[in-house]
Amino acid sequence: MRTPFAQRLGIDHPLIQAPMSGSTTPELVAAVSNAGGLGSLGAGYLSPQAILEQAARTRALTAQPYAINLFVTADEFTADAGQVTRIRERLDALMVKEGLDVRTSLPERWAFPFSEQLAALREARPPVASFAFDLLTPKQLSALKRLDIYVIGTATTVAEAKAWADLGADAVSLQAAEAGGHRGTFMHAAEDALIGLFALLPLAARAVDIPLIAAGSIMDGRAMLAAEILGAAASQLGTAFLACPESSAAAAWKRDLQTVREDQVTTIRSFSGKAARGLRNRYVQAMPNRPEDLPPYPVLNALTSPLRRAAAAAGRGDLLSEWCGQAASLVRPMPAAELVAVLMREYSQARAGLDRMA
Ligand SMILES: Cc1cc2nc3c(=O)[nH]c(=O)nc-3n(C[C@H](O)[C@H](O)[C@H](O)COP(=O)(O)O)c2cc1C
Repeated sequence: MRTPFAQRLGIDHPLIQAPMSGSTTPELVAAVSNAGGLGSLGAGYLSPQAILEQAARTRALTAQPYAINLFVTADEFTADAGQVTRIRERLDALMVKEGLDVRTSLPERWAFPFSEQLAALREARPPVASFAFDLLTPKQLSALKRLDIYVIGTATTVAEAKAWADLGADAVSLQAAEAGGHRGTFMHAAEDALIGLFALLPLAARAVDIPLIAAGSIMDGRAMLAAEILGAAASQLGTAFLACPESSAAAAWKRDLQTVREDQVTTIRSFSGKAARGLRNRYVQAMPNRPEDLPPYPVLNALTSPLRRAAAAAGRGDLLSEWCGQAASLVRPMPAAELVAVLMREYSQARAGLDRMA
């Protein structure tokens, strides 16, 4: 079971629990790492201080390798005041209509500066760091390599995978069209970079020679093996771990995942200003979704953040950003360590079935 990739990372299974900003906890990450996979902390929205705290808590819970993930963004953002006012009016009107006692306000900052988050990551020094939304600079990458941190980039096309490989990343996570959460696309329009996993994996395997990690609606051990056959060194599962008790996803969201139909899973910009895959719920139907009608990421993300918190507290899944992959209803709510064991049992059984057929 210990593939060369798993051996290099010092983990037992070719299985990565995807970083999920806002939903991963040190408890989830440590449970997966202790069970032989690679747990990943989604730290994209965390302050530098919170990154250090969550890393320390993870370290206290596991001695096994784990990853910290960040969104590569600019340090500062400007917002068009008129656009912000217009969207705040729409958002506040929706909250009034839905009876939620919360209104938008102007935050202190649109997002924490990436350079400060990256400095905190370096200080925490996890064995693995993964990145989405853009490339690191060569200087940022070499600073991580000097600390012996294994670096994984995120790509949604072959060109993006090549860009990470040319930069010197150790591995690349291929985020296919099926994948839940924000699109990591940085070289194309989001709609042009919705490539299915069965196309993306063999195309990328032909073009780059660093390990490829498959991501996008992998929900069981059979799919992990299928990804491996198409060229993946490991599988990265997000939605599959969302309904674990250790995940901090809202209860209503965990419940909704189990009944999502694939035709209800769509590309949504209206929560954050950036394309993301999730459930077309009441909020999504009520709000504009075209980029020209919305402030960009992270401005809109910051404006909707208190509304989403209030919706979660009120049990209103239909007003939350219910990110999920296309195969969400295959989710199996159970403790993360159990899920890792089930996935690996299915993976072994699928592999034994193939051997019998050969
Ligand atoms: C709720 C949620 C949050 C996510 N947040 C992040 C993140 O912070 N960083 C990141 O690189 N990927 C993030 N992703 C994308 C995952 O890394 C991965 O590509 C995706 O979960 C794979 O598809 P699946 O959800 O169908 O398994 C997120 C996905 C979900 C579902």
